[in-house]
Amino acid sequence: MSEPSRHIPVLGQEAVDLLAPRDGGVYVDATFGAGGYSQMILSTPGSRVIGIDRDRTAIAGGFDLVERSGGRLTLVEDRFSNLAEVCAAQGAETVDGVVMDVGVSSMQLDQGERGFSFRLSGPLDMRMGQSGPSAADVIAVASEAELANIIYIFGEERHSRAVARAIVAARTNAPITTTKALADIVSKVVHAKPGEIHPATRTFQGLRIFVNAELDELHLALSAAERVLKPGGRLVVVSFHSLEDRIVKNFFNARGKTGGGSRHRPELDQEAPSFAILTKRPITAGSAELAGNPRARSAKLRAGERTAAPAHAGGDLPAWPTLDTVMGRR
Ligand SMILES: C[S@@+](CC[C@H](N)C(=O)[O-])C[C@H]1O[C@@H](n2cnc3c(N)ncnc32)[C@H](O)[C@@H]1O
Repeated sequence: MSEPSRHIPVLGQEAVDLLAPRDGGVYVDATFGAGGYSQMILSTPGSRVIGIDRDRTAIAGGFDLVERSGGRLTLVEDRFSNLAEVCAAQGAETVDGVVMDVGVSSMQLDQGERGFSFRLSGPLDMRMGQSGPSAADVIAVASEAELANIIYIFGEERHSRAVARAIVAARTNAPITTTKALADIVSKVVHAKPGEIHPATRTFQGLRIFVNAELDELHLALSAAERVLKPGGRLVVVSFHSLEDRIVKNFFNARGKTGGGSRHRPELDQEAPSFAILTKRPITAGSAELAGNPRARSAKLRAGERTAAPAHAGGDLPAWPTLDTVMGRR
């Protein structure tokens, strides 16, 4: 990692302690970012890390750490929903641990040209990777109802209909292509009281999650991790808001449940638990970490240890708006 100071790994110590790396173990850091977690895992001699990030700049920033790792760190630019395929391509059909620190990185947020921040001027991009439609593309073509849904479901914005109406009215005059233009449009219809978050916070979050299919990615990656982990291998997930945490919590609840069926009610038979839950309640940042890093405020960590039971069936994705339905048909 070239500039460790650019990013303070949130709940890093707790995450790596739960991952419990050991000499000879293979670990997936599914969200490499600035490499904070990877660096901590690699401090266990003889451990190997496969680092994944969909952001090319994060992968490029990690080359230094690859060199320093003496062949123990491999970096792959990909989406973490592909983590089973990534591991197989690296010769690791099974692994000893998977850690995920999901969401946007400080580096992405702090670079105005990436378009994630309503506080910095830049193009309305918001893509973590370098391909696919940007937030400006979505804003240009989504219907008013689709925009309201995206902003309501992924941004949890109660005024989503008013925001969508304002966006559609504004785009008939001129394309909305900058963070500032969108923030100004939202600020005219959502009013924050003193001390409340910026009025555009939820709209930006909703669009970002949609543009990067973040919840689908998380849902798919959890199942992929379940398939590649060895018995005794650990899955550690740090999430940043309630939508993500709900997916992680439901995943571990479903995988950690012990049988509900009986001889008399075989229809209630359940699949054997594929994880033993290691965190009855989510772990959150302590006061010392919060003082140094306010972004850790909403972080929640959940972890489980893989049992020897087969992986459960993946389950359907919830029926929320997707890039394919909104962009694909045009
Ligand atoms: C919060 S940062 C991780 C920081 C890292 N733990 C560290 O210590 O530096 C999240 C990273 O995950 C990446 N990311 C988010 N969603 C992804 C996905 N679906 N596939 C691959 N990478 C993803 C982002 O590009 C970002 O770099």
